[in-house]
Amino acid sequence: MRKQLKVWAYAMLRYFTVWAFVAVGPAIAQEKVFSLRAPDVLVESGLMSHLLPRFSLKTGVRITLAEDGLAAFGAEGTPVFRQGDAVWHFSHAGGDYAEAFQDWLLSDVGKRTIEAFAPEGRALFSADVATEAVVQTLALSGDAILGETVSLKQCGRCHVVNDTNRMNAIGSSPSFALMRTFPDWQERFETFFLLNPHPAFTQVIEVTDPFPIDRPSPIAPIEVSWEEIEAITAYVGSIAPADLGAPLATQ
Ligand code: HEC
Repeated sequence: MRKQLKVWAYAMLRYFTVWAFVAVGPAIAQEKVFSLRAPDVLVESGLMSHLLPRFSLKTGVRITLAEDGLAAFGAEGTPVFRQGDAVWHFSHAGGDYAEAFQDWLLSDVGKRTIEAFAPEGRALFSADVATEAVVQTLALSGDAILGETVSLKQCGRCHVVNDTNRMNAIGSSPSFALMRTFPDWQERFETFFLLNPHPAFTQVIEVTDPFPIDRPSPIAPIEVSWEEIEAITAYVGSIAPADLGAPLATQ
């Protein structure tokens, strides 16, 4: 009786094993592949021919480089590695394989693979993108450096823009770092000229109407262009939000 049971169990095991193979069969036949767009500079650096085969080896997912690839390395998406000061991002339109590639790039193994790429003995890429992550995801346009200059010149009369004008600002105006903590800071900066007290003394070139004759600007007016507003917004995006846990006097 016992033996019979054993034989039966063995038969069942074989039966299931066979079926398991049949079931897995079509999945193997279906190719795991996705297409990737990578700028020439990245391809020419050699990093792609270093990374892609190693990822494929681990996961069985093949990546083809294509101009119209659905996934891409570029300026948008998730920061994945750094080349000097530039941070490369990875974006994709969904899909398990592209998602797996992103996870792999951010994993320890992926990071080590990126940093192991050292033609002529020198590592060209670093996987350390931690400090960039917060700022980069905002995808700001505009020139943050110009933004700092304009902010100090035009807004620094009232607002603390950064440490350099801390002493010249008016205490009743909120600091830029404080306003940076508002969830909708970006919208507020882009429309500041509509928000009080600014309309009374602010002109946006080719956007706002001239001050009414009977209500001239009570103080030396501010005049900014749309590009300068974008630059200010880019600059504000690059500064650290005030630590609201700290005493107000230090903000
Ligand atoms: C003459 C002083 C003065 C100048 C110059 C000034 N601001 Fe302000 N700003 C204020 C005051 C005061 C407030 C606070 C208003 C309030 O709390 O109602 C404010 C508030 C703001 C707010 C928040 C508005 C809101 O309602 O959420 C933004 C954004 C802002 N300023 C941006 C700027 C920018 C950008 C510049 C320069 C281009 C600038 N300000 C120049 C006085 C000034």
